[in-house]
Amino acid sequence: MVGVGYVGLSTAVCVATKFPTVALDVNESRVSSLNAGETPIHEKGLQPLLARGLAAKRLLFSSEAEGMVGADVIFMAVGTPSGADGSIDLSQVRSACATVGDAIRRSKSKPLVLLKSTTVPGTARDVVKRLLEKSSAKECGTGFGLCSNPEFLREGTAIRDTLSPDRVVLGPFDGLSLRLARTFYRRFYGKTIPQILVTSPEGAELVKYGSNAMLATRVSFINLISRLCELYPGTDVEDVARGIGMDHRIGPHFLQAGPGFGGSCFPKDVKAFRRSMSDSGLNSSILESILETNDAQPLHVAELAERAAGSLQGKEVAVLGLAFKADTDDVRESRSIPLVERLLERGGNVRVYDPVAMPNAKAALASRVVYSPSARDCLRGADVAIVMTAWRQFRRLRPSDYLGLMRSPVLVDARRIYDPRIFGRKLKYVAVGRGTEDGAA
Ligand code: NAD
Ligand code: UGA
Repeated sequence: MVGVGYVGLSTAVCVATKFPTVALDVNESRVSSLNAGETPIHEKGLQPLLARGLAAKRLLFSSEAEGMVGADVIFMAVGTPSGADGSIDLSQVRSACATVGDAIRRSKSKPLVLLKSTTVPGTARDVVKRLLEKSSAKECGTGFGLCSNPEFLREGTAIRDTLSPDRVVLGPFDGLSLRLARTFYRRFYGKTIPQILVTSPEGAELVKYGSNAMLATRVSFINLISRLCELYPGTDVEDVARGIGMDHRIGPHFLQAGPGFGGSCFPKDVKAFRRSMSDSGLNSSILESILETNDAQPLHVAELAERAAGSLQGKEVAVLGLAFKADTDDVRESRSIPLVERLLERGGNVRVYDPVAMPNAKAALASRVVYSPSARDCLRGADVAIVMTAWRQFRRLRPSDYLGLMRSPVLVDARRIYDPRIFGRKLKYVAVGRGTEDGAA
């Protein structure tokens, strides 16, 4: 495994349940803490599998490429972040190709390289295959195998998604690559093998971008509808989404209105896909709109708070939730960051709390906000509270908690986790996507 971030680490601990696994990363402190059994990320089910792999000596972390020589299968799971202009930054992929290619050159067998990193169409062929052939001095199809093999796991359920995915998508370059990939997945999954789709390398890359863009579209679409719902008293986006999703051609998933999509993937992948489309001379305005709607949504949440409180100038504003969604410590592109920035611009004094994402959030928000040790501390003396992440512990808060702790209880529920019939009666309660008498949008 090359790269032990969210994808590489989750995949490595699962693969190690079946095969001896060496996982490489250029981040040496990450490697040593992993070898000591400490997980650098918050991911359900990861810790026990890590401990099991290390104890059985089936899993080893290293920053030395030596461990890759002689491997049968090499996963590439390095990051593909957004460059400054929104295009894909392939620097990690390029450096990983040099290391992997060198290991292939020194291997006596014919290893299979599975490209898990998300790459825009054409990258597997024009960059990965070319660089691997150059640095290994071997030819793909005879000296080694290569498949584009995109990853669809979600943070928070990464282990479950790896052990039972909806599908495996393979974009092999040749017959050897396909044979080796099929053999690996058959042996890894045994009787529970998921459906396998075989397509071209570019087809596999497009399945990945198409999936993320489709899911992001649904989120932006329902958020747009939720803005309309806010204009009509008695109208709730949940009813509208349920009604839309009852059509079996549409289905109910990914229609939850909220503060917009965040995370390390949807925003960067939609941007890279848009860039790749426009570079190909295609009209990418559909993707442009998805991003615009998403950028507007956290600012709209700040506006809901401002309207409910009268003004934010000098007010104490409590933000509950910094992770881009519940069950992860990842704050990359979290909607809480632009929300906090807007609240500060409007003169609010912002305090924040998240059960696991505070250390990561500190890098983004620095000393501009106060970090509270608990949700209750965050709420104590606040004038406005905004729920940005649907953590279970926030769901458990009752109206009496808000009433008892806050100075003037104004609650903005950007995740729609509370029952309006209970919360609306007791405090000034505003939720995204719910029409009120004064027309919230
Ligand atoms: P990440 O940034 O968390 O991890 C990448 C890791 O690779 C880092 O630990 C980094 O130190 C390491 N690395 C960089 N260059 C290296 C090199 N040359 N050799 C060895 N290690 C190197 O990234 P991630 O979130 O795990 O995502 C990895 C890829 O998978 C991306 O392309 C992403 O789009 C895709 N993906 C991510 C998710 C997700 O939920 N995070 C899901 C599906 C697909
Ligand atoms: C997403 C995809 O779901 C994975 O299949 C994919 O592998 C991954 O991106 C990736 O390529 O990295 P992830 O980013 O972990 O996974 O999180 P999601 O559960 O998809 O949520 C993304 C964002 O959309 C979150 O901010 C979430 O709160 C938001 N969302 C999701 C909504 O606002 N409404 C919804 O109905 C669903």
